Amino acid sequence: MSVLQELKGRFRSAIRQGLQLEIDPQITAAKEPKFGDYQCNDAMGLAKKLGSKPRDVAQKIVENLDIADIAEPPTIEGPGFINLRLQVAYINRKLESIWHDDRLGIPLADPPQRIVVDFSSPNIAKEMHVGHLRSTIIGDCIARILEFLGHEVLRLNHVGDWGTQFGMLITHLKEAFPQALVAADVLALGDLVNFYREAKKRFDEDESFRERARLAVVDLQAGEATARQAWQLLCEQSRREFQKIYDLLDVRLQERGESFYNPFLPAVVEDLAALGLLQEDAGAKCVFLEGFQNKEGQPLPLIVQKSDGGYNYATTDLAALRYRINVDKADRIIYVTDSGQADHFAQVFQVARRAGWLPDRVQVEHVPFGLVLGEDGKKFKTRSGDTVALKELLHEAIERAFADIDSRNPDAPLSFKQEVAKVVGIGAVKYADLSQNRHSNYVFSFDKMLSLQGNTAPYLLYAYVRIQGIGRKSTKPIDRSLPIHISHPSEIVLAKHLLQCAEVIDAVATDLMPNRLCQYLFELSQKFNQFYDQCPILQAEDGERHSRLALCEITARTLRLGLGLLGIPVLERM
Ligand code: ARG
Repeated sequence: MSVLQELKGRFRSAIRQGLQLEIDPQITAAKEPKFGDYQCNDAMGLAKKLGSKPRDVAQKIVENLDIADIAEPPTIEGPGFINLRLQVAYINRKLESIWHDDRLGIPLADPPQRIVVDFSSPNIAKEMHVGHLRSTIIGDCIARILEFLGHEVLRLNHVGDWGTQFGMLITHLKEAFPQALVAADVLALGDLVNFYREAKKRFDEDESFRERARLAVVDLQAGEATARQAWQLLCEQSRREFQKIYDLLDVRLQERGESFYNPFLPAVVEDLAALGLLQEDAGAKCVFLEGFQNKEGQPLPLIVQKSDGGYNYATTDLAALRYRINVDKADRIIYVTDSGQADHFAQVFQVARRAGWLPDRVQVEHVPFGLVLGEDGKKFKTRSGDTVALKELLHEAIERAFADIDSRNPDAPLSFKQEVAKVVGIGAVKYADLSQNRHSNYVFSFDKMLSLQGNTAPYLLYAYVRIQGIGRKSTKPIDRSLPIHISHPSEIVLAKHLLQCAEVIDAVATDLMPNRLCQYLFELSQKFNQFYDQCPILQAEDGERHSRLALCEITARTLRLGLGLLGIPVLERM
């Protein structure tokens, strides 16, 4: 049980006994060390409910609080905050229990849920770009955390593999490069992207091309054999390119693209019609939304079938939502895309809810993120002005990391340098993304993310290596049957931080903000460094040395776990 859970349990009983109320207590980590370690904020709210003074309520809670084995006697501050300071003996006991636990004392979720994480989701025939990079990195981290907590996670790649773009592309290729539609791998993905651009241009400019493209979509949707084969070849090719990037990032995904839901689209429209939610607007079938208005104050429509009979992105998402709830039996569905799609998801969720397809027991969440900016503060582009191709970007990070390790360690074996460069380079890109509050735009800077200084992956990886080095230098093996005894202030600060890991992971599983975990790990290394500055380890006397080595070990394991949940493996040497 985490410290927080333990405290909550004690407060719950105190409130039940003292006030005859059943609540889920609000306990938070104290904002400043002078307020102790934890704080209960319930007295104010409860006082309002009971019509009494907050400090009296706080007093009642404290009188009934059985906490002598965990904390020093609680104090009541300000309007009625109850402050707690953990006892050193408790900290020692707790440290020992996480030390002896494979999961570092982090409990499994009870009950575990079935959770869909819809992330990455690039589009076929278009290159993956930095926006998809963010989705891939953030989504993977969220999935890893939920999996670690014991949830059953479905990592779904909602690839854009259907729709009008294929009509254009097939029509254009038929004329410009027909081989590409009958044989595999005659086009590099870069070419495919160029062909797509050309096709789009023709589509926008040429009426008769547009018509042929439209017919090609009809063929494809009708399952016509050559159109189908062409489509499959194009998907196959993109898929292989995407996979290279997933391999580099070590990200696992199950592809279930938009085309998967194609058979379920007509029913979405029929069912909406049967429910009386459907209206016609300029030939299109749509649901008028609540709370979304145009400039004139008229409700906006969510179109689910265009006037030409075609379905769109929203129809597919409605079908996907139904499938995930009814067939996948999801309890929670998480969508990771840029914040530009916030309205889209809010609208889809609204329509699904009004249709009765989205019951209250299913939690749906859009996890939005900001743009990736260049160091000039503008949207991130390569020199040619193109959206940066992701693979090049990742390789550049690895190359830069290689140059660095090579300059510091020229004589190390090549395979070692390559391994370090890959972990550091990819880790730096991931960490730079995850450590930002995802709502904000973030500035992509190789120099910053690869720096050994500051809140970066190299800094944390290095902290881990350094701790492992201490362990290796120790001549006597650590005796795990001995108790842990810490007492120095910097040991206690570090230990308390170690005990918070479970709370932080829990919080990220709830609010889906990976930057919290990054911040936690960064502070952990800082607190470790202070401890290391102030307390001799290998030179200390037996009992102290033992406890300090145990602290080193728990810190290293916490770093390894935390980085692992961010999708970053550790190195033993670098
Ligand atoms: N393919 C879309 C894009 O590139 C993202 C899909 C997100 N998932 C979803 N269920 N709509 O913008």
